[in-house]
Amino acid sequence: MKLPGLIDVHVHLREPGAIHKEDFATGSAAALAGGITTALAMPNTQPPLVDAEAFNLASSAAEEKALCDYGIFLGANLTNAPDLAPLAPRAAGLKFYLDSTFGPLLLDNTIAWREHFERWPPYMPIAAHAERQTLAALLFIAGLYERPVHICHVSRKEEILLIKAAKEKGFPVTCEVAPHHLFLSVNDIPSIGAGRAEVRPRLATPEDQQALWDNLDVIDCFATDHAPHTLEEKDSDNPPPGYPGLETALPLLLTAVSDGRLTLDDIIARMHTNPRRIFNLPEQLETWVEIDPQSEYEIRGDESHTRCAWTPFEGWKVRGRVRRVMLRGQEVYRDGKILAKPGYGKNVRALKRSNV
Ligand code: NCD
Ligand code: ZN
Repeated sequence: MKLPGLIDVHVHLREPGAIHKEDFATGSAAALAGGITTALAMPNTQPPLVDAEAFNLASSAAEEKALCDYGIFLGANLTNAPDLAPLAPRAAGLKFYLDSTFGPLLLDNTIAWREHFERWPPYMPIAAHAERQTLAALLFIAGLYERPVHICHVSRKEEILLIKAAKEKGFPVTCEVAPHHLFLSVNDIPSIGAGRAEVRPRLATPEDQQALWDNLDVIDCFATDHAPHTLEEKDSDNPPPGYPGLETALPLLLTAVSDGRLTLDDIIARMHTNPRRIFNLPEQLETWVEIDPQSEYEIRGDESHTRCAWTPFEGWKVRGRVRRVMLRGQEVYRDGKILAKPGYGKNVRALKRSNV
């Protein structure tokens, strides 16, 4: 059975600055193994991608190493609003970090939010980490500027209901949910272990989790928020938040299809059609993912391609396996083997120009 090339609009590939966790080669290999042919990389790197120098550093590393197609977000900070517009055409979008998480990019001042809304080109996407009341504040300010905003990793009932209400009022808001918030809740923390279970937004209550399933029609994208940290870091006294997710997302979602909780069309809409529209991504010609929807196996962290070879879904039985991936006419993955060469992946913003 064939699916279109899947798009993950939220991944952390850790380059520059933390390539002991992941780099563009290992992260994009994990993407292909998960049936993902386009990954949009987040800017909370070291240095963070808040200026031309850092953005160029990440762009060159990606150009040299990426195996799948990619885009790279710029990060908004308190002072860089005036400088970002010239870089915008080369970026996947602009990321607002409005609640605390891993990395240095917290934008906790609404004057700065407004400067970014005023300066960032209106045709380029803005994605935001905004939980609980922060989400309400952001929707209000985005509403003042009548501009689309994409909400990252929605995890709570109050958030999905607020987005639903905003959409009903005609706000141009879209959102993504991560598989770990669909499939895990606070009840899973003891078996995962407290340090390993750390993630932002935190695992929520079973009621929050159920609200995401009850409001699937409000969810525009499934995005992994692939956020690899080593096991040593996760098991330390100060565990950083985040899970690898690129290789487990599709098998988990296909298992939900097999259990009758989702349809294949639900997955295609949220990992292909809607991400393409929201982030204005080019068509990938001759690109598809062959899956075996009946194949059953157990998820094993040590069998993954991500450099952080662990998973919060260790030992989960899934049904649905990625067999083969074609990307722009080339076979890039087959039965566990990565066949693409570093540098085969293209920046979606460069592809876009050449496709037009
Ligand atoms: C992310 C990371 O490690 O970069 N961690 C996480 O828990 N999601 C940061 C983020 O996406 O907020
Ligand atoms: Zn993230």
